[in-house]
Amino acid sequence: MHTVVLENVVKTHGQVVAVDDVTLSIKSGEFFSILGPSGSGKTTILRLIAGLDVPDSGTITLQQRIVNADPPHVRPVNMVFQHYALFPHMTVFENIAFGLRMHRQSRQDIREAVEEMVALVRLKGKTQRFPAQLSGGEQQRVALARALVNRPVVLLLDEPLAALDQQLRQDMQAELKRLQQEVNATFICVTHQQDEALMLSDRLGVMHRGTLLQVGTPQEIYEQPVSSTVAKFIGLSNSLSGMVTRTENNFCWIQAEAFPTVMARCPEGGVEHGSATVMVRPERLHISVDGPVNGYENTFPAIVHHVVFHGNEMFYQFRLRNDAIWTARVPIAGTHARPLVPGQSVYLQWAAHDGLVLSS
Ligand SMILES: Nc1ncnc2c1ncn2[C@@H]1O[C@H](COP(=O)(O)OP(=O)(O)OP(=O)(O)O)[C@@H](O)[C@H]1O
Ligand SMILES: [Mg+2]
Repeated sequence: MHTVVLENVVKTHGQVVAVDDVTLSIKSGEFFSILGPSGSGKTTILRLIAGLDVPDSGTITLQQRIVNADPPHVRPVNMVFQHYALFPHMTVFENIAFGLRMHRQSRQDIREAVEEMVALVRLKGKTQRFPAQLSGGEQQRVALARALVNRPVVLLLDEPLAALDQQLRQDMQAELKRLQQEVNATFICVTHQQDEALMLSDRLGVMHRGTLLQVGTPQEIYEQPVSSTVAKFIGLSNSLSGMVTRTENNFCWIQAEAFPTVMARCPEGGVEHGSATVMVRPERLHISVDGPVNGYENTFPAIVHHVVFHGNEMFYQFRLRNDAIWTARVPIAGTHARPLVPGQSVYLQWAAHDGLVLSS
């Protein structure tokens, strides 16, 4: 069953088309992420579902009911904003109870509901504190509890972890997933962190300039991006453009100026002869220091451009013949005992199935 359905939804702000003909169905109990660069319309989609914005055209359906004309407070939806805006003069308890008090529930019911939420987000013993006496992660938990206490069918989260540092973000990612499973609600989560979206989501949608470019499971989007825009957005940074000269058995051959013919995987729907782009994942590049080795269909000479130590990985940037910069990620515990140095000549090698051809 689909809990949230958007059909041909358009929302403009003056000249700006914030959401451009978006059609999307989100299943009951799903963890769905909306991924996209700044200004691509992610927040606007959440605001439309919550009823804080009204679409110019198209329909929004929640639990089989068209809600275009329903005000926010009657929709079975709650939203956690990016800057979770707790009431600073209220305690944790009062912040969480706020929505219930608005609904005029009894003191006893409110106390029980708040205590249940406090246990759920693991804030026992801290209910009498004020927001300023909490860490960022704890404040985030209060915001989540406050949004969940009304038992929304759909919880909308706008960059819920953006304000947290890296370590805390990772802890809260696991926490969000656990919460979603425990309350069994549909979560729609906006982020511009691709690793977060890939890790947390059952499915995700990639937005760009108001349009939804692709919807799928993390694996589908990672393995079969429909365009180079999607591919770049989920971390496929190495690309080379050329002409398709031949296709056979799901492989394509591409001729790019100044390069030997490249062999790579065709996209699922095939590819037309003409111009195309080959994309190669940074973790799939093999770096050969002492001349090319056997076993790879593609070999490019390259010069080491930049070396970045990244904890348990090295990030290498290489300059290709056409001056393009390609990136490789190599685990520190990997094969390169001696780190490469800028200016060094190497060969970048990759297997045909590790490159994907996309129409450009
Ligand atoms: N109230 C408004 N008035 C005018 N333009 C707006 C308004 N709200 C949003 N926009 C514009 O609509 C577009 C989409 O905005 P939106 O806030 O949905 O983007 P976003 O994907 O959430 O971006 P970010 O990642 O920066 O939060 C942007 O170009 C934005 O400037
Ligand atoms: Mg936003």
